[in-house]
Amino acid sequence: MQNTKVVVLIDDEIDVIEALTEMLELEGFDVLPFTDPKLALRSIKSDSHCVVLCDVKMPHIDGLTLLDAINKRASNLPVLLMSGHGDIPMATQAIKNGAYDFLEKPLVPSDLIIKLNDAFAKRQFESIDDAVENNSSLTIEEFLIGESRSIEQIRQQILVLAKTGVDTIINGDTGTGKEVVANALHQFSTRKEQPFVAINCGGMTESIIESELFGHELGSFTNASKQRIGKIELANNGTLFLDEIESMPISVQIKLLRVIQERVVERVGGNQLIPVNIVVVAASKANLEELSDQGLFRKDLFYRLNVASINIPKLKERVEDVHPLFCHFVKKSCQKFQTQPPILLCEQLRALNMHDWPGNTRELRNVADRFVLGIDGQGFNLQKTTSETEPEGFDFDLQMEGYEKALLLEALAKSEGNINASSEQLNLPRKTLYRKLKKYNINKFDFRVSATKET
Ligand SMILES: Nc1ncnc2c1ncn2[C@@H]1O[C@H](COP(=O)(O)OP(=O)(O)OP(=O)(O)O)[C@@H](O)[C@H]1O
Ligand SMILES: [Mg+2]
Repeated sequence: MQNTKVVVLIDDEIDVIEALTEMLELEGFDVLPFTDPKLALRSIKSDSHCVVLCDVKMPHIDGLTLLDAINKRASNLPVLLMSGHGDIPMATQAIKNGAYDFLEKPLVPSDLIIKLNDAFAKRQFESIDDAVENNSSLTIEEFLIGESRSIEQIRQQILVLAKTGVDTIINGDTGTGKEVVANALHQFSTRKEQPFVAINCGGMTESIIESELFGHELGSFTNASKQRIGKIELANNGTLFLDEIESMPISVQIKLLRVIQERVVERVGGNQLIPVNIVVVAASKANLEELSDQGLFRKDLFYRLNVASINIPKLKERVEDVHPLFCHFVKKSCQKFQTQPPILLCEQLRALNMHDWPGNTRELRNVADRFVLGIDGQGFNLQKTTSETEPEGFDFDLQMEGYEKALLLEALAKSEGNINASSEQLNLPRKTLYRKLKKYNINKFDFRVSATKET
């Protein structure tokens, strides 16, 4: 899931554009400003992951016509309208026609930020839903890729935990795959048809995270102009994914503990206890037990959440996963960029296996993208690390296997998955070639250019 929040801002008044751009950028949004709605429309694609913030009254086009045009280009894009007092009827009609919400001018910055964040959260659920829909037929091996013992153990753990539906903490360094594991815990559970609701606890003030999680009643604080259903309620019967839980303010932790223990939620400013049935999955980069020993995380919450825990090792500690993950990302990248996979040379595979991967799997994914696009030429432009010059714990067998695998892949890539041509090129009997492909879990069909070609 992507973290940048892109706002397409449309207003014919340059002063408004300038003031809003500055304010939104300071709040961490990326702004694409337009005074011309036609140009703005052109920048919107069906798969755009942005939120549109636009004026309802502009010289050549009104809010309703613009909304209609945006919906035609990208039907699920949240559109937030800004209206002057006199345009309220039009804005109300726009909501009926599918606009996400509207704000009255002059804008109250904190209201705008909350509404934009809401709109992005909506967008996020939809992309998770899309992803889950697309992934619904995947096996656990296809969902969580890797050949290392640790990944195999994690897959087994996921299947057991998903069945029992216990609260779980996922621990892992940056980019190791915590979100994939959280998704898998939901996807392979009986709750998979129910909502998977994610919230990132990092970088939010105490009051925002509180109202995001628990919701609020109308007028419960100065800017609560509307009732809001919190994510805990939204996740009812499904899974609540608390990402970066280590950054959750202590006061919010206490309230969350109450929800988990008593299985009820109370909206901010409300006086009603609403029953909820949720599985809580929390992810952390930090060691929560250590944090709680230092008084930086509530011990009671830690113990309550830590019914089960999954630890994802750093990528450099599971070298066997580098190649299968790389192939997976290359394949996805080729689909994304509509191109053919380049040939992976032995030295390149060796470089991948030897690299330290400080950014873990996410870094590998980026390298795969660059490889497919040919950005780094023949090399990978990997940062030099100590282990590249001085390999620690050199594993001869592993290196040889890596080399053998690279030769097989190279031949298959050259022959576009043709077994006869590959066995000839490698001077290997076909039977041996098939055995080796099986050993390394290589699928010749992955190398075919089109489905109609002979193999
Ligand atoms: N075992 C895996 N199989 C398939 N894809 C993976 C695997 N591990 C990670 N990925 C992919 O690598 C990227 C990073 O993974 P993810 O976002 O889950 O990491 P994270 O631990 O949540 O990162 P961060 O700490 O930055 O939040 C994503 O594109 C994800 O799909
Ligand atoms: Mg993550």
